[in-house]
Amino acid sequence: MQQQQIMPRVGPPGTPTGSSSRTMSFVDKQKYIEDYDFPYCDESSKYEKVAKIGQGTFGEVFKAREKKSNNKFVAMKKVLMDNEKEGFPITALREIRILQLLKHENVVNLIEICRTKATVSNGYRSTFYLVFDFCEHDLAGLLSNMNVKFSLGEIKKVMQQLLNGLYYIHSNKILHRDMKAANVLITKHGVLKLADFGLARAFSIPKNDAKNRYTNRVVTLWYRPPELLLGDRNYGPPVDMWGAGCIMAEMWTRSPIMQGNTEQQQLILISQLCGSFTPDVWPGVEKLELYKTVELPKNQNRRVKERLRPYVKDPYGCDLLDKLLTLDPKKRIDADTALNHDFFWTDPMPCDLGKMLSHHLQSMFEYLAQPRRTNQMRNYHQQMATMNSKPPDNTMIDRVW
Ligand SMILES: Nc1ncnc2c1ncn2[C@@H]1O[C@H](COP(=O)(O)OP(=O)(O)O)[C@@H](O)[C@H]1O
Ligand SMILES: [Mg+2]
Repeated sequence: MQQQQIMPRVGPPGTPTGSSSRTMSFVDKQKYIEDYDFPYCDESSKYEKVAKIGQGTFGEVFKAREKKSNNKFVAMKKVLMDNEKEGFPITALREIRILQLLKHENVVNLIEICRTKATVSNGYRSTFYLVFDFCEHDLAGLLSNMNVKFSLGEIKKVMQQLLNGLYYIHSNKILHRDMKAANVLITKHGVLKLADFGLARAFSIPKNDAKNRYTNRVVTLWYRPPELLLGDRNYGPPVDMWGAGCIMAEMWTRSPIMQGNTEQQQLILISQLCGSFTPDVWPGVEKLELYKTVELPKNQNRRVKERLRPYVKDPYGCDLLDKLLTLDPKKRIDADTALNHDFFWTDPMPCDLGKMLSHHLQSMFEYLAQPRRTNQMRNYHQQMATMNSKPPDNTMIDRVW
């Protein structure tokens, strides 16, 4: 798909978009609508909606069946136009352009953009959809279902595919900026796809002493790395690696490991797990905008391995988690190095998820799942906050996580 082909124009060629069409007579409008088709943008009526599977910040997502083939399923993500007075939202354009660039086994595949017919009843405003290959599950949905049990080899396969996807997008100079379990899709055959490039952007490595000034209001709070929370605007791929670490821990804990309610609280939870932020462990942290203005816990020891070992058990797994959840983004492990970690090259080796998933015929999505167990998470945090707390025993892990 070429970029121009999917750029939907919502006004006649050569006229300003949106508002001008409101002054056209009905007959003119009708003629214009008929004359002006979107040659590379099919009508959404070629698909039949089956179920709503997602409700994100930026719109609804539906499972739909392609009418022609009758058994091909797609996911249709509605482009939210409510706040758009003029034309097509720039955020959606950005997402589309990035998705067009990224073609990889472990990245969700954008098939096309389609739109509803402009009619009187919709005020001649089409609704646009991003159409993706359908994936049966998202990781948040799978993790919230206690009947879904991942073996160590299966967890390795999930993480290997996730890191493969990240390696690919980072090599293509794209930051995801919204890593979390709900944005990780898994097909019924066990193929993992990174999804939701709604916050993604291209990055560059600034020359000389120049610095990037990206927004730091990205990434869902619970998965947000310490550099963003401290106001860094010159960040890069390590922001996604932190998210990968949070997701990896969640493969065992079954719930997000640090659920702060505010940015300040998130920072506190991070230092309780990863230790105090000092220039010793993180040279340059003192230069970050918020380092001096927010109150940060002092004299906290790093306890990543100690606290996660009872859940993770596997020493290689603990070591990789420790390297992903590294405070200093410069020292945080990158996707390439992580893929070479012994975790992936020792027994049990990564193993296919298809067989385990074949026992689960129902799709599992965060949107359709029970709200995750926040009360029990609170117990966990209380434990995490207590110096000498004992980890829950096995039975409790089973029930709680
Ligand atoms: N290709 C897909 N196949 C199946 N489900 C999907 C697909 N794309 C998105 N979803 C579901 O819809 C949810 C929201 O989509 P997402 O792209 O993350 O949008 P938002 O920006 O609204 O979070 C996802 O968490 C996932 O559950
Ligand atoms: Mg999402």
